[in-house]
Amino acid sequence: MEVNDLKISVIGAGYVGLITALVLADMDHTVVCVDKDELKINKLNHRIPPIYEEGLEELLDKCLNSKTITFSTDIATAIKTCDVLYIAVGTPALEDGHVDMSQSNVIVDSLAKHLDHYAVIINKSTVPIGTQKHITQTLLEKGVSKELFDVVSNPEFLREGKAIHDFKYADRIVLGCESDKAKAILKQIYDPFVSPKIYTTPETSELIKYAANAFLATKISFINDIANLCSKTHADIAVIAYALGLDHRISPEFFKAGIGYGGSCFPKDTRALVKIAEHYEIQLKIVQSAIEINESQKLKPVKLLLNHWEEMEGKIVTILGVTFKPETDDVRDAPSIAIINKLIELGAQVRVYDPIGNKNAQKICPKAQYFEELYHSIDGAHCLILCTEWEEFHDLDFRFILKHMRIPMIIDGRNFLTDRDPEDDGILYFTVGGSI
Ligand code: UDX
Repeated sequence: MEVNDLKISVIGAGYVGLITALVLADMDHTVVCVDKDELKINKLNHRIPPIYEEGLEELLDKCLNSKTITFSTDIATAIKTCDVLYIAVGTPALEDGHVDMSQSNVIVDSLAKHLDHYAVIINKSTVPIGTQKHITQTLLEKGVSKELFDVVSNPEFLREGKAIHDFKYADRIVLGCESDKAKAILKQIYDPFVSPKIYTTPETSELIKYAANAFLATKISFINDIANLCSKTHADIAVIAYALGLDHRISPEFFKAGIGYGGSCFPKDTRALVKIAEHYEIQLKIVQSAIEINESQKLKPVKLLLNHWEEMEGKIVTILGVTFKPETDDVRDAPSIAIINKLIELGAQVRVYDPIGNKNAQKICPKAQYFEELYHSIDGAHCLILCTEWEEFHDLDFRFILKHMRIPMIIDGRNFLTDRDPEDDGILYFTVGGSI
């Protein structure tokens, strides 16, 4: 087999699946991306990205033009015709924090039904430790000959908004693989990438993913914990994070205090890891604390308002930025959502402005008022809470705020405006680790 003549199927056209499929297609593999969601597949075939992601529209166009990618709902044909089968379906959290493996299980059933030649099954979804073994066992029990497949764990570390870049230039590629035959095919796929490759056991690979996310989440919660101490001691959290970060063993990256982490990974994966450990009667106390700090961090702006105002009823609060971070339309587990819900529960009138996240937020917080225009959302408000550091918020017109807000008050949940010293302009200004 030549380097680029692999036939690859990616099952699941979500964030991870779609990016995997497109980057591999862009490397001249023949890729079919499969999803049961007809609407999504239709959109993709019409060159419409189902999510907002930097560079996605262009890459989709390019791969459709070069015909290296096709989108389909036909999983049976994909399984029957491909050398490599990626599983990239969602593994959301159940109510109790455990991982919901139902989508992955459905795919394994299809594999058992349709696999009729040797293929490498690569699991990209974030899954409990032992899943590679479990899938192997299930396929064998369902009568698939062991000659017909190998299952590999290959977790994904991409950040939303930078997903294509992170796939192409990953800090590392982790491959949990126990078979030489599968390893030869993995090398065909991954040798062209410059990233360091780590070949290891499937269990190690599966745990690396959870441990990586838990560590990063803990790093954020750690600095938020210190920020809380700063607010009582007049120490400067930005200087502290910078000074700590200059120790190369710590690094200044990913060390910004704020109203906490959100998104589809950190909240879900930290909770899942705690549950997984409980199963083995291990208490992950540090990760548990990171989760608790994050939960209370999200509501800091509301607590501040409760200290300031006797009555929340009738107050107009504008949320600036609803997505869990800039450059994405994703609002899953965003701190803003917890803030909006709490404020509404307390009787405030909540307005929301986000450059691209309004539509997604509206689905889960229908009681807030959504604005297309930033300054309309500010006009007449009693307070602004900056939840996402969208670039356009950095240029906020302070004169407008002073003239048109009922109280010129900004709670900066991302310490994003500190360099503009809003207080000097007469604005009541609160930061995380400062007065929050
Ligand atoms: C994360 C991981 O970075 C990625 O490697 C993993 O595979 C999936 O989860 P993502 O969820 O896209 O990626 O977001 P990320 O950019 O990591 O930010 C997560 C959250 O942490 C955001 O809400 C962000 O605002 C917050 N954050 C980040 C901070 O509060 N402080 C920081 O210093 C950095």
